[in-house]
Amino acid sequence: MDKKFSEPMFNGQELKDKVIVVTGGGSGLGKSMSRYFLQLGARVVITSRNLEKLQKAASEMEKETGGNVLPVRCDVRNYNEVETMLAATLETFGKVDGLLNNAAGNFISPTERLSAHAFDTVIDIVLKGSKNCTLALGKHWIKTKQEKAVVLNIVTTYAFTGSAYVVPSATAKAGVLAMTRSLAVEWAKYGIRMNAIAPGPFPTKGAWDRLLPGDLKEKFDISKKVPLRRVGEHQELANLAAYLMSDFSAYVNGEVITIDGGEWLQGAGEFNMLEAIPQTMWDMLETMIRAGKDK
Ligand code: HXC
Ligand code: NAP
Repeated sequence: MDKKFSEPMFNGQELKDKVIVVTGGGSGLGKSMSRYFLQLGARVVITSRNLEKLQKAASEMEKETGGNVLPVRCDVRNYNEVETMLAATLETFGKVDGLLNNAAGNFISPTERLSAHAFDTVIDIVLKGSKNCTLALGKHWIKTKQEKAVVLNIVTTYAFTGSAYVVPSATAKAGVLAMTRSLAVEWAKYGIRMNAIAPGPFPTKGAWDRLLPGDLKEKFDISKKVPLRRVGEHQELANLAAYLMSDFSAYVNGEVITIDGGEWLQGAGEFNMLEAIPQTMWDMLETMIRAGKDK
């Protein structure tokens, strides 16, 4: 099969001179997107709660790309830590152009089993964390009259469909989507663009350990939920993120772009279950329908 989608879409310096903060940039999808931003000439700040992990990821990505990475410990739940992270970014790179709100917390659970604190924990990382970073960097951009800046929020398709068993995450991601669309309008006058990506399943250790623990991975073949019958590859998400971070997407604002192989629509369409009907049965079904018409 032609796997063009797993190749880099841009190959030049499309993000040259940009400084981009990636929350949760030391693992999973955040790391894959950071790596590609670096390949395209950006300088990248990666943040999470675990400095050791960030330092390891930073030196690995610097070696791979020849780029410049600043690892900063920052729990996005705490506004003062976000302000400190912004100060460290400005001190090292002198400016910041983009924010990728990617950090998240999530796990499957029947909602009635959750303590109030468990529910809060996920809301705080996803919604409050994205709010904290957006507010701190937004205030900075507005105060310094920066000509242009970009915020890109990683949500999920259940931000708009909702989903059982991940209710804190669905609630928080829906809030992030509402913030995206609201600020896209309010802050456009300051040159700040605000978009979101809603990924379908892209295997990462962080997500798979918490959403498909143990043998759930084998029990539920997630690719079967996807009309294209495969999961996503990190590079194809990175391609989309790089486009939305770049000046090539200058007229895209307030948009949420789904990249899920058609997964959420497969679950939504009233008669999509007819996919299970073998081709050989359709002659018989058609005959039955046509016969019924004359009665
Ligand atoms: C019920 C749980 C629980 C579980 C934790 N808690 N795990 N309750 N079932 N499996 C409860 C704890 O008992 C505690 O409540 C509260 O949640 C906070 O737990 P801590 O472990 O103290 O929190 P913390 O150390 O801050 O860790 C946060 C975390 C953890 C969310 C619980 O999983 C984490 O660090 N996650 C970060 C990475 C991540 O989640 N990646 C996946 C993203 S995937 P009490 O009341 O006991 O104090 C994603 C997209 C999915 O978002 C879409 C796929 C298609
Ligand atoms: P991941 O590797 O677990 O990424 C989550 C990141 O968030 C980790 O690097 C984690 O780092 C960081 N983080 C968690 N709590 C934090 C906090 N309080 N402050 C700062 N950083 C924190 O999982 P992933 O799959 O790559 O997820 C990345 C993003 O994609 C998330 O927004 C997720 O919702 C979204 N997404 C993923 C999928 C998928 O299929 N994988 C699908 C749809 C959406 P530390 O633990 O070191 O803090």
